[in-house]
Amino acid sequence: MPLSTTSPPAGTEAAEIRRRLVADAEDRIHRLLDLETEKWTAAGGRPAELVASVRRVVDAGGKRLRPAFCVTGYLSAGGDPGSGDDVVRAAAALELLHVFALIHDDVLDDSAVRRGVETVHSTYAGDHLRRGMLGEPRRYGEGVAILAGDLAHVYADGLAAQLPPAARQIWTELRTEMIVGQFLDVLAAAEALMDVQTARWIAVCKSGHYTIHRPLTLGAAVAGRTDLNGVFQRYGALVGEAFQLRDDLIDVTGDSGITGKPTGLDAARHKMTLLLALAAEKDDRVRKLVGAPAREHDAAERLHTLLRECGVVDDVERLIQELVDDACAVIREAPLDREWREELIEMAHRVAYRDH
Ligand code: IPE
Ligand code: IPE
Ligand code: MG
Repeated sequence: MPLSTTSPPAGTEAAEIRRRLVADAEDRIHRLLDLETEKWTAAGGRPAELVASVRRVVDAGGKRLRPAFCVTGYLSAGGDPGSGDDVVRAAAALELLHVFALIHDDVLDDSAVRRGVETVHSTYAGDHLRRGMLGEPRRYGEGVAILAGDLAHVYADGLAAQLPPAARQIWTELRTEMIVGQFLDVLAAAEALMDVQTARWIAVCKSGHYTIHRPLTLGAAVAGRTDLNGVFQRYGALVGEAFQLRDDLIDVTGDSGITGKPTGLDAARHKMTLLLALAAEKDDRVRKLVGAPAREHDAAERLHTLLRECGVVDDVERLIQELVDDACAVIREAPLDREWREELIEMAHRVAYRDH
């Protein structure tokens, strides 16, 4: 189901070109994984298992948001669709980097399902148990997942290494921000840091920059333009926050059959989401429950119920609407061709109003 969320309205020429370049990035990833599989199979077989773990996450789907924003950044900056080798490489690198981030994120969040399939660490921990292997199943599963994630990261980096210097600089910033965002996410959960400012900062880092702003500027840099960075940064911060708020909402009210990942996990893992920080500000029962030093066994379930009942869901829907409106206002004023302004407005809505 790749591209479902970012699929542009059928028929527009801009959308069609974007679709083609994102499909090329998809092919680029498969070519790379095919070559790696051949190489490691020839070298004795077993290492190819790790490549297969990366491939399973790629093949399980995903919305391909980062490649779509990267290609949009390139084309809207006037990049030539006929000589798109570099942008295809950048888009492929972003998706492989995302595979790395997801594999590790599921270890950090102890999540068993991603994109509708079993996560790498769960698969290997299960394998360990079934085969009665030596050592601890969990440690083994997480060890293999760290390595599979690292492998995806190295593949991503190999593609990005061939980009022009301005794009490589953005690549470094994007990766650093995402990793720092993930660190703060873990830290805030462990410290029960209930603070809207911190939660917003984490959301901007791990979603705004990583998912939207940097992919757009990466694409524009490949087209040789850096003058759009300010516009893309403002748009990315706003749409990124809306994207993360939707992610938080989906965790509270979504359907795991549609999302392909567990719901209620944020509460279960003490995640200090932006939605939770807003709920704690609004409702003392939430604040007390989250702030309790040792949570009782049914606290996550009670928190999940409270979040649905305390009115924060409506507040967050209103906030998402405001963020999207502001992002659209930024784009309406931007020095971009009309068709790309329309595309970016359309993408902001699709990202903010997705159901998975
Ligand atoms: C999930 O990203 C991780 C976050 C940054 C919240 P996506 O929602 O883009 O996941 P896929 O790529 O579609 O699976
Ligand atoms: C994942 O964040 C962020 C990255 C992979 C960089 P979350 O933990 O909030 O996302 P989901 O809900 O697991 O997709
Ligand atoms: Mg997670």
